[in-house]
Amino acid sequence: MKDELLELKTRVLKKLESVAERSDLEKLRQSYLGRKGFLTLLLKRLEELPKEQRPAIGRLANQVKEELTEEFQSVSDSLTRKDAKEVSALDITLPGRRTPTGHLHPITQITEEICTIFVKLGFQVVQGPEVELDYYNFEALNMPKDHPARDMQDTFYISDNVVLRTHTSPMQIRIMENTSPPVSIVAPGKVYRPDSDISHTPMFHQVEGLLVDKGVSFGDLKGTLTTFAHQMFGPDTDLRFRPSFFPFTEPSAEVDIRCVVCQGKGCRVCSHTGWLEILGSGMVDPEVFKIVGYDVESISGFAFGMGVERIAMLKSGLDDIRLFFENDIRFLQQF
Ligand code: DAH
Repeated sequence: MKDELLELKTRVLKKLESVAERSDLEKLRQSYLGRKGFLTLLLKRLEELPKEQRPAIGRLANQVKEELTEEFQSVSDSLTRKDAKEVSALDITLPGRRTPTGHLHPITQITEEICTIFVKLGFQVVQGPEVELDYYNFEALNMPKDHPARDMQDTFYISDNVVLRTHTSPMQIRIMENTSPPVSIVAPGKVYRPDSDISHTPMFHQVEGLLVDKGVSFGDLKGTLTTFAHQMFGPDTDLRFRPSFFPFTEPSAEVDIRCVVCQGKGCRVCSHTGWLEILGSGMVDPEVFKIVGYDVESISGFAFGMGVERIAMLKSGLDDIRLFFENDIRFLQQF
């Protein structure tokens, strides 16, 4: 009987090791320690033993019962702990964990804002290469090899005839080459110049515009750009068209808005002039039309080009352009 008891104990302990569910634990308890369980039945057989053996076997039987009861309790406790863990892993009352989603870069946001204004005015958005042929970047824009205007836009050369574009104006040529008038496009994108200081980065962004049709006048240019500035900077923004020079427009004008910081009184931001330059523009030079094979007698057009960083800085009151490209999350999160 002693052997039976010890064998029973080993069997139960072994079975307890693989118990994973509370219901299995309960079944096991019933079949060994329950009223009709193996151990209970075994104990009943104590009476059949010779008297002198009963005390020793009785003690051993109680010891086995106690040990097993304790072991059942400890397995039960560990199941309780496991349940608690599972419950907390699935606590549906906890607030959700947010995945940081980020947003568009401020320069992308302003680019889209600019393009959207022109799309509403009937312009189409087009994009072209940043690595550009000298021909499109300079030559076809009426800037032959020795033209002094090239100096202002000295650039990164890939080879003698291939450059990183210095402006988005080459898109004027690319579009006109492939389309007959009327044409009305805006071309956003990256441009490159070997400048680097508080107001220049070697890479920056421009949006180019071009409209060609029968009877386009300087009045159309003025109306379109005034509408743009009013949408971008507010309907009360004063504008000034200043005579200027670009090799691919004639006449040319630079457009200023009344300083958004001092309202024209004069401050550091507007260099005490009361005005802020926002873009270059002009009537497309007939020389350019000739280069792309347009009939200069029957059509006319205007073009403009603006710096996206400049517009973004004026809108947000920033004075250091480099902030846009340092990728400091504390800066970017403000947009
Ligand atoms: N491409 C010129 C620049 O980067 C800006 C510009 C001036 C574009 C006049 C135009 C324009 O289309 O008509 O400085």
